[in-house]
Amino acid sequence: MSTIVNDVKTMSSYINRKVDTESVASFKGNEHIIKLNFTFDIKLIREALDEIKSKSEFKTTCSGFHALAMTKRKGHSVDDDKDLIGRYYTRVDNSYQEIAKDELVDEAAFTELVDVFKGTYFEYIHQQLSSRYPIGRVRILEKSVYNCNSWHRDPEPRIHIPIVTNPGALFIVNHHCTHLPADGSVYFTDTRGYHTALNGGDQPRTHLVAALAYPEYRP
Ligand SMILES: [Fe+2]
Repeated sequence: MSTIVNDVKTMSSYINRKVDTESVASFKGNEHIIKLNFTFDIKLIREALDEIKSKSEFKTTCSGFHALAMTKRKGHSVDDDKDLIGRYYTRVDNSYQEIAKDELVDEAAFTELVDVFKGTYFEYIHQQLSSRYPIGRVRILEKSVYNCNSWHRDPEPRIHIPIVTNPGALFIVNHHCTHLPADGSVYFTDTRGYHTALNGGDQPRTHLVAALAYPEYRP
């Protein structure tokens, strides 16, 4: 029951707690964001990315969100901007109604590596991921400083490999939020749940993001 005495006491218990200001600079998983038990060489990933960035340009899909396609459909070019986004579901206003945006993408069709990635360490990563899981679109996604994605859900879950990050770069799925350190770790993110990525740091953040093309999520 709310009384002034009880409310003062309750607030005191909150104030007297020791505040954790350290663990937010590390990874904390839950059932939606899981660190997988294999890793890649972060130095080789960064070297390969530097080389690729000198040869090709990221496309800006929306403000502060830049994408570079790593896989493509057989016989298609990578120039279809729609392929860089794909179907997602979101709630945009105070009606709380969910709406579908953009077109469904057949993730399983994205089997070919884009030329600039061939012969690089990313080809090895793609082989390693594909030997374990049905891998769909793979993109390198860069987030500018002080930028966040929409609050949305995707038709399929994703694999994230952070390449360049900072402690202010966070990933949120449903009610869980964590930083994903860029140390070669590979993360499962269940993006079938509502999620966003944000970069609250003052350096850009770059992740490799691979869609998991399990058959039940094909359009
Ligand atoms: Fe998403």
